[in-house]
Order: sequence, then C-alpha cells, then structure tokens
Amino acid sequence: MEGKLAAIADAAKGAIAACGSLEALEEIRVRYLGRKGELTELLKSVSSLPPEKRAAFGAAANRAKQEVSALLESRKAGLSAESDARRRKADALDVTLPGRRAWVGRRHPLSQLMDEVIEIFHGLGFSVAEGPDCETEWNNFEALNTPRDHPSWNLQDTFYLEKPPNLLMRTHTSPVQIRVMESQKPPVRIIAPGRCYRRDAIDASHMPVFYQCEGLYVDRDASLADLKATLTYFARQLLGEDVKIRFRPHFFPFTEPSVEYDFSCVFCQGKGCRVCKQSGWLEISGAGMVDPNVFNKVGYDPEVYSGYAWGMGLERVAMLRYGIDDIRLFYQGDLRFLEQF
Ligand code: DAH
Repeated sequence: MEGKLAAIADAAKGAIAACGSLEALEEIRVRYLGRKGELTELLKSVSSLPPEKRAAFGAAANRAKQEVSALLESRKAGLSAESDARRRKADALDVTLPGRRAWVGRRHPLSQLMDEVIEIFHGLGFSVAEGPDCETEWNNFEALNTPRDHPSWNLQDTFYLEKPPNLLMRTHTSPVQIRVMESQKPPVRIIAPGRCYRRDAIDASHMPVFYQCEGLYVDRDASLADLKATLTYFARQLLGEDVKIRFRPHFFPFTEPSVEYDFSCVFCQGKGCRVCKQSGWLEISGAGMVDPNVFNKVGYDPEVYSGYAWGMGLERVAMLRYGIDDIRLFYQGDLRFLEQF
C-alpha cells in the first residue's frame, strides 16, 4: 500500500509540474483528487486496513493529499498569471500605429452630373420642375399629342400599373411639361430631371429604369435658333468651349419641327473614332418647337405663344463624358467604379 501511495503521489506531482494549461491542470486535479480520484480512492481504502496499520497509512495518505493540493494551488496561480500576461499582451493597444482613414462617401456619378446640369440651366434662368414617376396616359401620351397608334402606347414599351387602370410608369420626363403648363401661365422656363421606365431588355446601353432631364421654354417669341443657342451653351459648359452641336431632322409627336441633336465627339474632336463610330458626332437626344396641338391640349394659345423643348438621357451624357461603354456600371454599386468619380 505504501508503495502504491508513493507512486501515485509522485505521478501526480510530476504531472502538475509538466502541466501547461489551466484546463489540463483541472483534469489532473479530477484524476487524483476528484470524487473518484486515485488518491481519494486510496484514502477511502484506509478503513479496510487492519487496525494497527490504519493510523500510519492514513497519516501518510493525508500528507500526500495535502502536498498534491498545495502543488495544484500554486501551479494554478502560476498558470493564471501567465495567461493573464499573455492576454494583456495580445489586447495591448499600440498607440504608435498610424490611424485608419475613415471611408468618405460621395454622391453617385449620375447625381453629380444631374447637379451640374441643373446648375448650368439655372444660370440661364431655368428652374427645376418635378413630376411623379407614376403617370396618367393623358400626361405621358395624349396631351403630348401621341396618338393611340404610336408605338410607345404599346404594352411592350410601357409598364402599366394594374390598379387603378391606365396608370403607368412614365416612359420619359416629357409629361412634366404638361403638368407645368396645366398649372401655370407662360412664360415657362423649366428643366425636369427624373427617373423614367421602359420595358427594355438590359444590355450595355439599355436599362428598364434610367434618367432623363427634360427642358421646356415657352414665351411669345421662342425660336429654333434659341433652342440651338441654349443647347450649345449647355454643351460648352459641360464639355468645353470646343464642342460643336448639330441638329438632324427627326419626328416627335409633341414637337414641330423636331430634331435629334448631336454633340461633336469629345474623344476625337470630331475626327472620327471608335466611340463615335467614325462619324465625329455623338447622338444625345431629341428636341424641337412645341407642337401647337400640345399648346391646345394644355390651354395655351398657339397663336400667341411659341416654345421649344428638349430631352436628354443622363446616363448617355455621363457615358459620353467619361468614356464609359456600359450603362450597367451605373447600377451595379461596384465601389471600384464608383470611387473614380
Ligand atoms: N421624350 C423624348 C424621348 O424620351 C425626348 C424628347 C424629344 C423630349 C423631343 C423633348 C423633345 O422635349 O422636344 O425620347
């Protein structure tokens, strides 16, 4: 029995000395001093010894138990101190590290461009008018002299809302012209920036949701020359003094005469390149003199008033200005793209 006691006590002391963590130390305690621990069992067996041996062995076993307990305690204190020190070191704040620069947000490139466009027309005396994205057929088509057989009436191009019937997502910003003219008398000088919706398949140059900026001028003596001067001024402010503008005859139901207008290519100065498909010109949008039928619909007298109007695709202008070849980049939220603006 004495030999066994010595062996167990030595094994326990050796294990405590070699132990490297508080978890392992707890395992050692349970193994030797737990309820069914090896030393505990040995102490329990004292009662089964012959009476003359009990006192001496009991004392020896108790001494061994106290020694092991004391070693466990002191090793525990040592290990705790070590792990505290390790944690303090790991958590330490290095005040000499350089600070991390805070991320600075910025406005989306289309919002930045929209602000610039508004600013330029503001300088010419135009103010901003707004209309809702959800429109009536009257504002979006009928009052703009767009007959029912015009292709844009077709469901292919327009998102109609189910309830109430005949409401739709505006396909252009031109309905804001109607809203403004129906609510005020001439003269009118407004631009109308905003979102438009068309049932287009998404590709490099089409999105079902996109931005336009409309313009409308109405007074007693508006002319096509004024329209050209206005758009020329705008183009120069936005793209530089050298940019040229040209009108090509076109058709829109709400203007007569109607034109499409182009800016000279900012990438090759009109010499011809890949972006302008060697033509030297970049198509921007449509414009024209307000059709007398539109004036009649909104209650302006076409004998007294004349006006000019134009549209502008904002993504298109941004793409031309920055040489971007895919409209989807504006809508993907990729910071590598957005941070360049
Ligand atoms: N609303 C036309 C479109 O979305 C663009 C346009 C053409 C607007 C001529 C006008 C205009 O104001 O006069 O394609």
